[in-house]
Amino acid sequence: MGKKRKVYKTVTIVDIADKGLSVGREESGEIYMVDGGVPGDVVRILKKRNRKGVGQGLLTEVLEYSPHRTTPFCTHFEDCGGCKWQHYKYEEQLRSKNKSVISAIQRIAKCSPDLIGDPIPAPETTFFRNKLEYTFSDKRWITKEEAESEKDINPGAALGFHRPGAFDKIVDITYCHLQPEPTNLIRNFIRKYALEHGLEFFNVRKRTGLLRTLMIRTGKEGQVMVVLACFKDDREDIENLLDALIAEFPNLTSVYYVINSKGNDTILDLPLVLYRGEPFIEESLDDLNFRLGPKSFFQTNPRQAETLYELAMDYAGIDENSVVYDLYCGIGSIALYAAKKARHVVGIESVPEAIADARVNASINDIENVNFYVGEVENTLNAGFFKDNGMPDVIIVDPPRAGLHKDVVAAIADSGVKRVVYVSCNPATQARDIGMLGDRYDLIKLRTVDMFPHTSHIETVAQLDLKGTV
Ligand SMILES: C[S@@+](CC[C@H](N)C(=O)[O-])C[C@H]1O[C@@H](n2cnc3c(N)ncnc32)[C@H](O)[C@@H]1O
Repeated sequence: MGKKRKVYKTVTIVDIADKGLSVGREESGEIYMVDGGVPGDVVRILKKRNRKGVGQGLLTEVLEYSPHRTTPFCTHFEDCGGCKWQHYKYEEQLRSKNKSVISAIQRIAKCSPDLIGDPIPAPETTFFRNKLEYTFSDKRWITKEEAESEKDINPGAALGFHRPGAFDKIVDITYCHLQPEPTNLIRNFIRKYALEHGLEFFNVRKRTGLLRTLMIRTGKEGQVMVVLACFKDDREDIENLLDALIAEFPNLTSVYYVINSKGNDTILDLPLVLYRGEPFIEESLDDLNFRLGPKSFFQTNPRQAETLYELAMDYAGIDENSVVYDLYCGIGSIALYAAKKARHVVGIESVPEAIADARVNASINDIENVNFYVGEVENTLNAGFFKDNGMPDVIIVDPPRAGLHKDVVAAIADSGVKRVVYVSCNPATQARDIGMLGDRYDLIKLRTVDMFPHTSHIETVAQLDLKGTV
C-alpha cells in the first residue's frame, strides 16, 4: 500500500482550547485543534486524523505572528508538557481564561456575563510552586533541536518531566522556572551523582533500574523536603546517594525514601522511611500554620491560595454568629480560614488521611470551633446531618473537576441555605451546577483567580444567594 499523502492547511488561530491547544479556522470555515498556536497567528498545519469528529493539526510553520505572542523563557518549552502558554503574553492568558469562564456561564448556566469580574492575576508568574515531582528514566526524550541537528544522538538517562503522549519518555530538565531553589540544584546534583556512580534509572516498560521518582517540597520559610522513590530495595546504594545529598545540602529539613516496586508511581499507599531530619515541613497561609508530611495534599501555589481563600471569605460574608459548611474540605484550609470568623464550621472530605491532617492543622492553630467528617458528600449531607450539625448560614464547596454530585446539588437546594460559595477548578462543571441550582439560587458574582500562569488551568469563586433574599 502506498504512503498516505501529507495534507497541509493554512489556518488563522481564533481561540485557545484546553491542554495547550488552540482553535484554528481555515478560510472555508473548517475548524482544527492546533498544538501551540496563539490567537491572531496565521499558521501552516499538517492535517492529522480527526479526534472525536474534530480536525487536528500539527503546527509546522508560523506564517504571521500574533501580536499576543512573546518569547518563551524556558529552554525546555518545545519539549516539556508544563507551562504550554509561555509563548502567550500573560495579560492575554488571563483574558483567555476569563473568556472561557464567561462563555461557560452564558452558555451552560444561562447567567449574565455582567456578573463576572476581572480576573485576578498571579503575583508571581514563575517560581510559584511549592512542590514538584520528577521522574527518572533510562529513555531520555530526544529534543526537537537534537533531532533537527546532524549530530549523533545518545539517548541516555533523564531526570525530569513526562513528555506528553510518550509515557516512557522523560524530558531531561536542567532548569525549571516553577519552584524556587534549591529544587534545580538538588535535582541536578542527584542526576550527576547517579550517573557518576552507575546507579540505574528506571525503565517503565521492562520494569528495571533503581531510581524511580523524586519529589521536592519547599516551604515559604526555606524548609525543604526530599522524597526519593526507588524501584529496587538496594539500601546501600540508596543510603550512599542520600548521604551525599545531605553532605551537599546540609540544611534539608526532611529526607525520606520509599521502595516502590508497584505498577504505578503513587507512593501514597506505601510506607515511607524518614532517613534524616523532621517528619514534616511547615507552611503558612495568612496567619494559619500547616504541617505537611510527604503524603499531605496542599495547594501548590500558596501565595495565590491566600488570595483565593480571602475571596471565598469575602463572598461568604461570615460573622461571629455564622455556621459554615466546607464541603470537599481536603486538609481543611478553607474551613480553618472560616473558623477564625465563624461561630462553628463543619468540614466533609472523603480521604481519611486529609481529615487526619485537617484535625492536626486545627489543633496546631488552636482552632476548636470546627468538626471534620470523613465521607462522600453525596452520602453524608442529608436531613440527619443538618439536624446534628446545625443548619448552615453559608455552604462553601470546592469539589474536584467533576463538580457536584447531583444528590449534593439536591441536598443544597432542599436545605434552603441562604448563601453558597462555589470554588471551582473547572468552569464547565461549575456552570452546569450553577444552572442546576438556578431554580433556587441566583448567581451574584464570580471571579477567576489565576493559580497556574502559563497553563490553561482555571480557578474560580462564585457567590450564589437564595432567591428572594437579596
Ligand atoms: C479541589 S479539592 C479541595 C481541597 C480543599 N478545599 C483545599 O483547599 O485543601 C477537592 C477535594 O474533594 C475530595 N473529594 C473528592 N470527591 C469527594 C466526595 N465525593 N466527597 C467528599 N470529598 C471528595 C478530594 O479528596 C479533594 O480533597
